[in-house]
Amino acid sequence: MSFCVAIDGPAAAGKGTIARAVAAHFGFAHLDSGLLYRAVGRRALQGENPLEAARSLRPEELDDPVLRTPEVAEAASRVAAMPEVRKALTDFQRAFARRAGGAVLDGRDIGTVICPEAEVKLFVTASDEVRARRRHAELLERGIEAEFEDVLADLRARDARDRERAVAPLAKADDALLLDTTELSIEAAVNEAIRAVERRYGQGRV
Ligand code: C5P
Repeated sequence: MSFCVAIDGPAAAGKGTIARAVAAHFGFAHLDSGLLYRAVGRRALQGENPLEAARSLRPEELDDPVLRTPEVAEAASRVAAMPEVRKALTDFQRAFARRAGGAVLDGRDIGTVICPEAEVKLFVTASDEVRARRRHAELLERGIEAEFEDVLADLRARDARDRERAVAPLAKADDALLLDTTELSIEAAVNEAIRAVERRYGQGRV
């Protein structure tokens, strides 16, 4: 039987960390759906047609560390605004969401478009400054030089594009639990997420 946890939110809000922790806690599979768009964005940067890239993605491409760079993030949000690209990536995500044994997917449209019937929906957010601070620290840790102001501006531009696009814009599903991590430690946020899943999981849905 399947059980889907949908975790959406803007960039660097903590949804990836929460998704991985929830998946590990319950033994569910995890899909970072942003990697799909990043992989397509990367191929677009290399000159490939984004739709053809989306139709021919290979799983091993998702492991490449280059997908974590700001340039690829930017390219990802551009290809993510193309309806045919989103459509080409939909079946894979829906199948993942319904795999046996439970799944956690994080992204922008999981609770609204990919898996609107998800058993648990979370919308993870935080202030722009806090998210930019986290992303800045993460980049420096990985040896990528960046100015805080540039990280903040990039993040705001990417969020605006994600919120304002016509198809599957970043939005909180009406029935999603809001988790604001601006003043919440990552441990506290993870605990809240686990409690939300336990409330449904305890009802024997898997
Ligand atoms: O989550 P991440 O920052 O890796 O996502 C990169 C970009 O991919 C986002 O800015 C967004 O444009 C796009 N994306 C999306 N829908 C998803 C996941 C990511 O449009 N479900």
